[in-house]
Amino acid sequence: MEKIVSLCKRRGFVYPSSEIYSGFAGVYDYGPMGVELENNLKAHWWKWMVHKRQDIVGLDSSIFMNPQIWEASGHTKGFFDPMVECKECNARIRADKMLEDIGVKADEKMPEEKLNGLFQENEQKIKCPKCGKRNFTKVKKFNLLVKSNLGDFTDSNMAPSYLRGETCQGIYVNFKNVVDSQHVKVPFGIAQIGKAFRNEISPRQFLFRGREFEQMEMQYFTRPEEEMSEYEKLKEYRWKAILSLGFDESNLRWKKHDNLVFYAKEAYDVEYNFPWGFDEMEGIHARGNYDLTQHSKGSGKDLSYHDSETNEKFIPHIVESSGGVGRLFFAIMCDAYKEDELGGETRVYLKLKPSLAPVKAAVFPLLKNKPELVSKAKEVFDMLNEEIQPMVFDDNGNIGKRYRRQDEIGTPYCITVDFDSLEKNDVTVRDRDTGKQERVSIADIGARIKGAISL
Ligand code: GAP
Repeated sequence: MEKIVSLCKRRGFVYPSSEIYSGFAGVYDYGPMGVELENNLKAHWWKWMVHKRQDIVGLDSSIFMNPQIWEASGHTKGFFDPMVECKECNARIRADKMLEDIGVKADEKMPEEKLNGLFQENEQKIKCPKCGKRNFTKVKKFNLLVKSNLGDFTDSNMAPSYLRGETCQGIYVNFKNVVDSQHVKVPFGIAQIGKAFRNEISPRQFLFRGREFEQMEMQYFTRPEEEMSEYEKLKEYRWKAILSLGFDESNLRWKKHDNLVFYAKEAYDVEYNFPWGFDEMEGIHARGNYDLTQHSKGSGKDLSYHDSETNEKFIPHIVESSGGVGRLFFAIMCDAYKEDELGGETRVYLKLKPSLAPVKAAVFPLLKNKPELVSKAKEVFDMLNEEIQPMVFDDNGNIGKRYRRQDEIGTPYCITVDFDSLEKNDVTVRDRDTGKQERVSIADIGARIKGAISL
């Protein structure tokens, strides 16, 4: 974990937010390399969840929404995490996580009384992670919605607007708009990627649990009797899509939810083997007709669907896939992080699938102080960069150091222009994973790299 966090900072993938002001808990910034990888992960998701599918359309709904939406969805009354407070140092901590840390099975959906019981039974084994003492309040449920004063210019007690706690509510409230404006027929899906905000009590484990994060969610609207068969299909499809990111399959597994929210029929998580063990990366949930029923009641607008072929009217049931960009990013970094020995030295490299790599290829002149090598290398760079992006040109430091820099950010190909290149019009192409170099004619490199980097 430390090695990955440190590489993320050192090579410009992820920085702690507001670092020069001592940081800000639960938020992170993606640096120049991070934003490229993040965009590639989102593009991959969009390709699989929208562009490859004739039955799914995209959406980009707003972060702020009418506060009544969060009443109707149940979030103002039921979106809680269990919290205890240390009476010695006032630290606020997730009760279920403290129980899990000492090996007691618990989760945030357990009723408050059950968690209190478990907490009291085990209090002798639980220490405050901040001060190490044992003196806690009772377990209390803490609402995770983040409030804002949007639209309140008078310091009044106007009801707060919320920053959305999940992106899917924007999908539900646009269901009718999409049905009325697009040629969609149930079953069909609406997908979106966007920010979500939660007042997490103990943000931790790097990008895993933040207060501001991005979700990639797809809501699939089905006939009631087809909900569970569509759910199975979605599970299968997401597994295939996740594997196509290049994951080592032994680091992934399915985990069925033990405690379901009352309206859900079934829920599974795709878990990744994070540095602390298997934990949730994304969820696939069968949500019944709860969401559209609630928003029909809340808004007073009929959100049922009319099937023009059978003349039936029904409230569609929903199956969703919901994943966090940050969690996927972190899992991909863990999976790609490798150390080996090359030329008698230990090296670190990111074995990213070439299509995900932040930089696709780097071009170097063998020596910086030979103008003929530099100008030939620039020519090669300009030619390739027409077709391949992003690329870097690097003539800093010795060639070994340049290779190491590119290895650490996962650049699949390093192209070096040497003295032979001037005569033979070829270059060396070094493979990141093996470190092996091969001579390739300049005319052929473009096609070769392009084939390997498409998403
Ligand atoms: N619409 C359903 C929903 O939001 P969730 O299990 O609360 O379900 C779905 O969240 C996914 O969003 C999780 O699997 C995780 O990848 C991501 N996620 C949730 N809370 C997060 C947080 N605090 N920080 C980072 N990612 C989070």
